[in-house]
Amino acid sequence: MTLLAREAMHASLQDPVLESIGFLNEIMSRYPGALSFAPGAPHPAPYTELNTARYIDRFVAHAASTSRTPDMAARLLYEYGPAQGLINDIVADALRRDLGIDADPDSLVITVGAQEAMLLVLRALIASPDDLLAVSDPCFVGITSAASLLGAGVQAVPEDADGLDVDALSEACRAARRSGRRIRACYVAPDYANPSGTRMAAERRLRLLELADEEDFLVLEDNAYGFTAPPGTELPALKSLDTGRRVVHIGTFAKVCFPGARVGYVVADQIVRASDGSAVTLAAELARLKTAVTVNTSPICQALIAGMLLEHGGSLTELSRTRSVLYRRNLAHLLQALDRETVGGLPDGVEWNRPEGGFFVRMRLPVPVDAQLLEISAAEHGVLWTPMAPFHPGGGGTHTLRLSCSYLGPERIDEGVRRLVAFLREYAMPGTATAVVGGVSQ
Ligand SMILES: Cc1ncc(COP(=O)(O)O)c(C=O)c1O
Repeated sequence: MTLLAREAMHASLQDPVLESIGFLNEIMSRYPGALSFAPGAPHPAPYTELNTARYIDRFVAHAASTSRTPDMAARLLYEYGPAQGLINDIVADALRRDLGIDADPDSLVITVGAQEAMLLVLRALIASPDDLLAVSDPCFVGITSAASLLGAGVQAVPEDADGLDVDALSEACRAARRSGRRIRACYVAPDYANPSGTRMAAERRLRLLELADEEDFLVLEDNAYGFTAPPGTELPALKSLDTGRRVVHIGTFAKVCFPGARVGYVVADQIVRASDGSAVTLAAELARLKTAVTVNTSPICQALIAGMLLEHGGSLTELSRTRSVLYRRNLAHLLQALDRETVGGLPDGVEWNRPEGGFFVRMRLPVPVDAQLLEISAAEHGVLWTPMAPFHPGGGGTHTLRLSCSYLGPERIDEGVRRLVAFLREYAMPGTATAVVGGVSQ
């Protein structure tokens, strides 16, 4: 039998982030009865209302009505299609109408989820070991995993309750320059970030764009959770404030439609000039790279998503309305349950934030939050959560966990919080967990 040594393969295979995701999956399968606040998965309830055939027909009718060769419209679904995408005009319309992002359809690429968009953008921008990707710390593991896959250097920049610390990013730019490197791009998820739930304040958004101009880097804006903002409290997307084409805007239909479609998009309206003087959009360049990755995004899945959008008047807000209500209900329910169940007290130093949108609540404990503690929580109290250290490329997060309630119903959230609070009362006190694990597992 052929044996391959992992150490002799690409370093990304040894990325601790992949290990921790593997461990979470493994522990969920070992404790199937445990109530899990771990996965940030979308709620399955809306799937029962999906009429996929109708959505596809809807798109085909639209394509026929706008095409010079209407009888060919249905055929589009079965061909490779253009690498940049089939539904760019519909998505561009929705972005203009709902987010104030004025993007030409040619400056979009429809990608296999937001994940492919991140990979393509990093591949295009990170040209040498001296090019660094700055990321908010903590940040979504999808971007750090993509950087690891490409061997791109990551510079962690702390965030506070108002989002990314722009002064720290400014200092990171100067430090990179002193060492002959440069911050090429900075990844942020300004609205209810995964995993921290943090939302970037309005004034920070402007400061970040100013700094991007001063220091000549691009901002990679990930807008996965913006749709969950309570109506009337929405803050402008970075891309809608972007007068200098500094922002590459990445979006996904995973949460507003369903993740199995694997449809996302990237707005990349920057101009790329070649040495012969010709100029194209960054989107066109990303599409050239895409032909070496996924060739195109499944036309059937694109049609499905576009049909869903058209069924909702072409509006992302309308499309996501029932889901955003559901997610806000869950989040409010989780926070209320935490308040209610902890009236009798908790060990000193247990605290959590109170986001108004998104899928996640971050909880700090006065004890190390690691695989050992998770094992105890699952085995003795039947409740799971996600340790946050793997989300911290800067090395922090050793005492925090992430709670996600996106895919649970209210009763499960209540039961999960009862179990969580019982666990915290027993083990969130310095010394307790190590003593027990020492006795149980050795
Ligand atoms: C911040 C963030 N971006 C993007 C995604 C989704 O990406 P995709 O469209 O690849 O499913 C997620 C999903 O967990 C996320 O949390």
